[in-house]
Amino acid sequence: MSSASTAKAKNPIPVPPFERLAALLAGLEPGGDVIDLGVGEPRHPMPDFLMRALGEAQADFSKYPPIRGTEAFRGAAAAWLARRYPPLVEFPQGELGILPLSGTREGLFYIVFSAQARRCDIGHGAILMPNPSYHTYAAAALASGAEPVFLAAGPETGFLPDLGAIGEDTLARTVAFFLCTPANPQGVVADASYLEQAIELARRHDFLLIADECYSEIYTRGPPPGALEIAGGMGAGLANVISMQSLSKRSNLAGLRAGFCAGDPEFIEAFATFRGTVGPQMPLPVQHACAAVLADEAHVEASRALYAEKFDAADRILCGRLGYRRPEGGFFLWLDVGAHGGSERAVKTLWKECGVKLLPGSFLARDNADGTNPGADYVRVAMVHDLAVTQTALSRIAETLK
Ligand SMILES: Cc1ncc(COP(=O)(O)O)c(C=O)c1O
Repeated sequence: MSSASTAKAKNPIPVPPFERLAALLAGLEPGGDVIDLGVGEPRHPMPDFLMRALGEAQADFSKYPPIRGTEAFRGAAAAWLARRYPPLVEFPQGELGILPLSGTREGLFYIVFSAQARRCDIGHGAILMPNPSYHTYAAAALASGAEPVFLAAGPETGFLPDLGAIGEDTLARTVAFFLCTPANPQGVVADASYLEQAIELARRHDFLLIADECYSEIYTRGPPPGALEIAGGMGAGLANVISMQSLSKRSNLAGLRAGFCAGDPEFIEAFATFRGTVGPQMPLPVQHACAAVLADEAHVEASRALYAEKFDAADRILCGRLGYRRPEGGFFLWLDVGAHGGSERAVKTLWKECGVKLLPGSFLARDNADGTNPGADYVRVAMVHDLAVTQTALSRIAETLK
């Protein structure tokens, strides 16, 4: 047998960044009590009515939940969307598709299969995504047999992909575009004209714009515009546009595994049919609790105020250092550690010298054709703890990376 026939092909699915981080720090002792700012898991209070709401529907744990969600769930999601994005008030049921997701991550993964099926005339098409970005986008594209196309999203493009730089040949074979706004990890927000341009591209080339808006409710200046809001104001309904929403970040409920996607009703219907085979349904008591959580803004406002205090502290502690920018949205700092040996070295230094755990930017990015990695000079800082812990961690970072 030839070696070619016996050689095992390399698994193309990338190893998740947190597994890589565990391997990077394995065997290294932390140089202080540990503060984990690596994972984006909000530690703010959960809505205090959550358990009551879950309990109200606990008998329904005995039932298989409907994949399309209950009317009450969809109604609560539609009402929230209409409050947050006024043009959607105009959209009657049927023109705004809504589907529950068991956490947005699974939805972001499975959606590429339906996006590909939607353009089966293209075959295994291209899926566009910022580089760096949330690791599930690339994993989903690769698992589905699509070609991930990594669009530069560093300082040279204002940390968002340059839409004018995407080649016509690429656009012609594109089936979907993941756009994260507010962006993880960069913290920038796509403004209304950027979103309009992205929607125009999606419609001209008939691909799906998947706006990952998981961080839409965390901001310190003004509420970021949403893709459905902009599409709703452009005419042509919500064709080609999907928004992904998560209660993990908005409502500090990462463990509930709850989110939803909304938008293009024709696509949402096809996605629901696909999910009827493979999608993890959201348990009925969770749907019931989500409806209550979506109807309440008080806990979201309280959480936002806590983030604002922490970003004020970051302004004081990090101003003028490590390329610090206050993020426009989301809860990550994206610090430039190029002068400190780059992302992996800086993460190891911080761990060993002061016990602060961060995520290397290189783990969120793919290598460019020339072998450089656009995240290699950065570390991601998740501002998820309370003010006192966050201040201590930021001071340690500033002190260690002087
Ligand atoms: C950009 C982005 N999208 C989606 C998710 C998934 O969120 P969840 O599955 O908790 O809803 C995350 C989680 O960190 C994220 O950062």
